[in-house]
Amino acid sequence: NFLPASHPLVDGRTSDATLIRALRGDRPERVPVWFMRQAGRSLPEYRSIRADHRMLDACVNPDLASEITLQPVRRHGVDAAVFFSDIVVPLMLAGVDVDLVAGRGPVFAQPVRSAADVARCRAEFTADRLREALEPVREAVRLTVAQLGGTPLIGFAGAPFTLAAYLVEGGPSRDHLRARTLMHADPAAWRELLDWAAELSGAFLEAQVEAGASAVQLFDSWAGSLSAADYREHVAPASRRTLDAVRGIAYRHPLRDGYAVQQETVPMIHFAVGSGHLLEELAEVGVSALGVDWRTPLDDASRRLGDALPLQGNLDPAFLGAPAAQLEAHLDEVLRRGSRAPAHILNLGHGVPPETDPAVLTRIVELAHAR
Ligand code: CP3
Repeated sequence: NFLPASHPLVDGRTSDATLIRALRGDRPERVPVWFMRQAGRSLPEYRSIRADHRMLDACVNPDLASEITLQPVRRHGVDAAVFFSDIVVPLMLAGVDVDLVAGRGPVFAQPVRSAADVARCRAEFTADRLREALEPVREAVRLTVAQLGGTPLIGFAGAPFTLAAYLVEGGPSRDHLRARTLMHADPAAWRELLDWAAELSGAFLEAQVEAGASAVQLFDSWAGSLSAADYREHVAPASRRTLDAVRGIAYRHPLRDGYAVQQETVPMIHFAVGSGHLLEELAEVGVSALGVDWRTPLDDASRRLGDALPLQGNLDPAFLGAPAAQLEAHLDEVLRRGSRAPAHILNLGHGVPPETDPAVLTRIVELAHAR
């Protein structure tokens, strides 16, 4: 399975972008910077669009999704765009009744709590049904990539555990206790649930990559609530399966000065919040880079991983509201610790908080590029 000739990794637009080089383990002259949740509520131009459109409607409106994806690139000069969508979009497009409630998060009309619920979902909300509904996503990606030039687009999906944490609870929860209980009460139903979620997330990732995304990030956001043993046994196989949808897509790095072409695969980033105890497990899922939250210093993370994996992170979002001097000292500390890893992509340790002053994000990009 190869990317089409018009893909930005194949025609040379993004194949040597700083983000892609760092994900291959290289250290470009300028550290690549982007922010999780850069496309969203911290931007007035986003809020003005959202005043007239529901969140999930905007996600499946190609013009709006593309415009919102481009907003932070124009404003901040970040080194990557992240596709404006949500982890529940593939579920919705497969037919699941879900809403994103402001200030809360995903809410499901029918929580998935038993083997019978899982079987019903698998039979009704299939990956084939999703694939037939993915055209607005593909179109949004195509429109975006046509405007991005040499800036790579990062596609993403929610990891199966994070989706299951919402599906089983029916909505957001603190400790995902119902989901973790199902894991142990009915491991067979749990496996079926995660395999189904992996198929949908994998199809969502594949569509974004084929339409023009140059890298992907798997958001295993709530995996931090699991023990390492549970993650390994009950969760990692499904996350690996999600990424297999992208792992199988190859491309040839564009020919340069007559030197031989090299076969590459689309780079993949794996990220979970509060996962300092899971770094080894997350790395074993098989990815190009690991996102680290703000609790684990990047040099510690790198040492534990044998200094073998590019790292992404990990400014503490709390510093975004601190005085400039404190923020700058924190930025220098993160860059210094990040220099231990084979490569570093500067990001926050979790998403941009909605109340963030956008000028602070722009300043971080300028400072990081000048270092
Ligand atoms: O990063 C980006 O800029 C791209 C867009 C993006 C969104 N959601 C848009 C969004 C991405 C990558 C996500 C991923 C996502 N969604 C995750 C994983 C990342 C993480 O934070 O750990 C999770 C857990 C979700 C589920 C979800 N969707 C939550 C918890 C919320 C917030 C609810 C709230 O209002 O506080 C959402 C809604 C959501 N997704 C918004 C945006 C811009 C806010 C919608 C709004 O405008 O009100």
